Amino acid sequence: VSSQDGLLELSLTAQAERQTLAGQRSRVLAYNGQVPGPLLEARAGDTVRLTLINQLETPTNLHYHGLHLSPETDNVFREVAPGERYTYEFQIPSNHPAVTAWYHPHYHLDVARQVFGGLAGPIIIRGDLDEIPELQQADETLLLLQDFEPTRQPAEPSSLGKKWGREGSSLLASGQHNPVITMPQNGLLRLRLINASASRIYQLQLQNHPWFLIATDRGAISAPTPLETLRLSPGERADLLIAGQQAPGDYRLISLPYDRGMSDMVSSLGTAVEQMSGVVQPVETTLATLRYQSGTYAEPLPLPQKLISVEPLPAPDHTREFVLNHGIGGGMNGFIINGKSFDMNRVDTKVKLNQVEDWQIVNQASIDHPFHLHTNRFQVIERNGQPETLLSWKDTVSIKGYETVTIRVRFEDFVGRTVYHCHILDHEDQGMMGILEIS
Ligand code: C2O
Ligand code: CU
Ligand code: CU
Repeated sequence: VSSQDGLLELSLTAQAERQTLAGQRSRVLAYNGQVPGPLLEARAGDTVRLTLINQLETPTNLHYHGLHLSPETDNVFREVAPGERYTYEFQIPSNHPAVTAWYHPHYHLDVARQVFGGLAGPIIIRGDLDEIPELQQADETLLLLQDFEPTRQPAEPSSLGKKWGREGSSLLASGQHNPVITMPQNGLLRLRLINASASRIYQLQLQNHPWFLIATDRGAISAPTPLETLRLSPGERADLLIAGQQAPGDYRLISLPYDRGMSDMVSSLGTAVEQMSGVVQPVETTLATLRYQSGTYAEPLPLPQKLISVEPLPAPDHTREFVLNHGIGGGMNGFIINGKSFDMNRVDTKVKLNQVEDWQIVNQASIDHPFHLHTNRFQVIERNGQPETLLSWKDTVSIKGYETVTIRVRFEDFVGRTVYHCHILDHEDQGMMGILEIS
């Protein structure tokens, strides 16, 4: 759905239904009968009027992950009860960068189940990056990555499966099993990726074919950057250029096995992984296939030299620490940040509008915890004491077991109460979330 005359208007009905996904008859949760939900496409400055109709049996709501909106607009504490409807109306700031974003439910305690059930959809905001002539010539495709479990969906995993974070054995790229993407004849393809899985971390590789990163979660980087593999944690997005002229044939976009700390968890528990329902062993899987048709390819178009420059944020006014931990296999209970489990009525962190802060995020646990901040974008400054080499705008950063990552953020434009949390949604539901008040 695209905006017309500066207005994007639509309704989304959330509903449980049966669908054939990747060849398997499954129970899913869908927006307007689609998994994933419809693409929302708008320009910076446009108005969005979106009516959420809740036909589920439980409360839900919407979060616009990746849009710079006020906490009052993008209010994750709003409840849309079963049978009710609510209209979200807001303007996308006119200076909003071009981004790939997504929408998903954010109803606390039930986020993982709803998203794993299929409730998620892509958002494209057009702007600065889309004006670059080389990118205007590129074909464009978007893959929203989800996993699901055909037999159990959307039933509850075991309590261990929930601690680990639910994963499914079937992988979907925009609702399809291994879709074929045809390489355009000018040899330039723009690929947007969204990790909309509840817990799965993808380690992606485009086999035998060059690809270049052009934007991260919150907008463009300074210049196309060649990639080997791309790690994408739940909530993260990447915008890529696939460029070149290869021999005719198929090139696979694969998800490599990635261990987000299972070996440590299993040894601390003394349990066989197979016994934990909702826990899936990582295996190599083809997500999509890039296809060159024979004989028709011209010289590939050149890559743009420059994209949009990323200005480093100034030195911080304030520095704070966030310690992530949980009780998997240990004596502790629940999932905690700075020793506390989420409480809707407690403000955990208070910051001042327009100040710049460094947040040192310490993962004391053995498993990965992707950290996500709402409302404002940030820059990753350091990982385990090493300066980050790529300067980019992010809203979610992967943090491996025992890693420490420093992010820098300026609290811009909006006051109010917002949240930060682990984007393994079972961890969020079990308390790994805090409230931030900007005043
Ligand atoms: Cu995509 Cu608060 O999350
Ligand atoms: Cu978000
Ligand atoms: Cu986590």
